[in-house]
Amino acid sequence: MTEPVTTTKTTAPVTPEAVVRIDGLSKSFDGRLVLDDVRLEVGRGRIVSVIGQSGGGKTTLMRCVNLLERPDKGTVEVAGEVVHEGGRTVCRDLARLRRTVGMVFQRFHLFPHLTAVENVVLAQRKAGIPEQEALERAVALLRRVKVAHRALAHPDQLSGGEQQRVAIARALALKPEVLLFDEPTSSLDPEATREVLSVMRELAADGMTMLLVTHELPFAREVADHVVFVDGGRIVEEGRPEDVLDSPAQARTREFLASYGTAS
Ligand SMILES: Nc1ncnc2c1ncn2[C@@H]1O[C@H](COP(=O)(O)OP(=O)(O)O)[C@@H](O)[C@H]1O
Ligand SMILES: [Mg+2]
Repeated sequence: MTEPVTTTKTTAPVTPEAVVRIDGLSKSFDGRLVLDDVRLEVGRGRIVSVIGQSGGGKTTLMRCVNLLERPDKGTVEVAGEVVHEGGRTVCRDLARLRRTVGMVFQRFHLFPHLTAVENVVLAQRKAGIPEQEALERAVALLRRVKVAHRALAHPDQLSGGEQQRVAIARALALKPEVLLFDEPTSSLDPEATREVLSVMRELAADGMTMLLVTHELPFAREVADHVVFVDGGRIVEEGRPEDVLDSPAQARTREFLASYGTAS
């Protein structure tokens, strides 16, 4: 060991490696630009929250990350691997990408003919995980999202909050490196919203990497490391939650937040 010892600063936050890196991303539908040159990074263990009006391109952005939607331009990198570049999908193993990226949707998208526990087992079975291991893991995850007592119920026997928690357990089943949430509480009543946010708060505390679209601004302020305001397909403003949400620099952000305060 002849190398000189360099002192590392322990006080400055270390920039974590990016689990998701998006650069120059554009996407049109029927000739209409819905994402325009978007750049975004989610570092390991970080929580990035995307906010903005309906129609602004938030869902399309999330769908581009796990290639449910194919970007027209730009780069998408997940866990150090380029999955999309210059209008071409270069990821050879989409199944592996989907294991790396867990997604939770506004509408839970559980299989109606399967019980809660079977919904969580299924994803693992498809990934080749042995049945007994998949079952044990499903039960443990249902416990973690506090819905184990409903393991044998079908989705139509579950409340919205319970269904969404099962959907979170399913998203966790393949040990993803990042979880995407697209307005996970916007179809839920206030009590169910609280239950789901409480589970997400615990995941955040456990160090889960998350990219989260939400209308729950107080929640974004509380858990996010970084808030991104998207409008008309562009990132208008981004930064620390307290800066973007409490003293935004851009008039458009102020306008959005003001309209928000009076929205039902
Ligand atoms: N598959 C699609 N085909 C055509 N237009 C779409 C499609 N998906 C989304 N759009 C349009 O793209 C724009 C952005 O939509 P979306 O990403 O869902 O916004 P947000 O999630 O912010 O509400 C909207 O104008 C929407 O109508
Ligand atoms: Mg949306």
